[in-house]
Amino acid sequence: METAEFKGQVADLQARVEADFLDITSLDDLTLFFQRYLGKKGELSVLLKSLKAFSPDEKKVVGPLIQKVKTKLNADFVAKRDTLELAVLNEKLKSDWIDVTKHEEVLTGNLHPLSKVQRRIEEIFHGMGFEVADGPHVEKEWTNFDALNIPASHPARDMQDTFFVKTGSDDPHENSVLRTHTSPVQIRRMLERGAPVRMICPGRTFRNEDLDATHDAQFYQFECLLLDEDINLSHLKGVLERFLSEFFEKEMKIRIRPGYFPFVEPGLEIDVWFEIPGKKGKWLELLGAGMVHPNVLKAGEIDADKYQGFAFGVGLTRLTMMKYEIDDIRFLASSKQDFLGQF
Ligand code: DAH
Repeated sequence: METAEFKGQVADLQARVEADFLDITSLDDLTLFFQRYLGKKGELSVLLKSLKAFSPDEKKVVGPLIQKVKTKLNADFVAKRDTLELAVLNEKLKSDWIDVTKHEEVLTGNLHPLSKVQRRIEEIFHGMGFEVADGPHVEKEWTNFDALNIPASHPARDMQDTFFVKTGSDDPHENSVLRTHTSPVQIRRMLERGAPVRMICPGRTFRNEDLDATHDAQFYQFECLLLDEDINLSHLKGVLERFLSEFFEKEMKIRIRPGYFPFVEPGLEIDVWFEIPGKKGKWLELLGAGMVHPNVLKAGEIDADKYQGFAFGVGLTRLTMMKYEIDDIRFLASSKQDFLGQF
């Protein structure tokens, strides 16, 4: 190629580059522009390669010409790229901004109705000076039965369908069961710290039941134990009425009937008058109670001449179903969102 022809091509290229450059309005346009002129197979690169054919003297003439075009083109390209990228960023920020003052509804979890009821019970009893105790789910046969005045031969063992965990020993301290009630925590508490005692113990209990709308193999109870000097049944009545009225947020009426539980003497069944708005009221059997049996105090190593007291055991699950008008116990163990979301 003649130098004149090369100069012509450079001039032609420069003219087209300048015209095309003006048409660039987006990063996509810019990419195409780059491929056409600056890329490996681009026109400028091809023209640069053709420099090889010239003699060193000729190169001195035509080389700077094309270098000048290349330098300007590169500089323009970089400036254009920066401008376009900034515009894209600004556009994005316009739609991306975060309004920190906006109130978004956040979906949160809530406490299970059983937990709510348990907390409320603890609150009410704390207010009356009771502590909250705890005991294990797997309990010694002795603590669950014998210490509560239910020896092995006693017919009352059949009152509760027991899940046995470890059997076979003659020693009830060796065998273990899933606790059938929260009453064994009475014994634990007496042995641990003696009298006086004011405690409640909410917790899970287990029985081998046929399952239906009102029976589950696991349910919640809470136990109450008060031991002190000069305690009598009127204290029991007072504590219960106070508890029930606070729990149901209205004056509650109770009815006391004789009942039999081996760990209390006398033993009592206590019913509560329960009304659901729009329905007829009725007496509901709510709990077992009584004055702690001397044999139980003995097992708990309490001086029965000095201390006496009352105990009762309530179905916490039952209270929950009453409070929230839940008619099927199985809902409580389900993970149904439409049920749980209501509380
Ligand atoms: N433990 C009994 C049960 O589960 C309930 C009970 C009755 C507890 C009388 C007591 C009581 O403390 O005095 O059926």
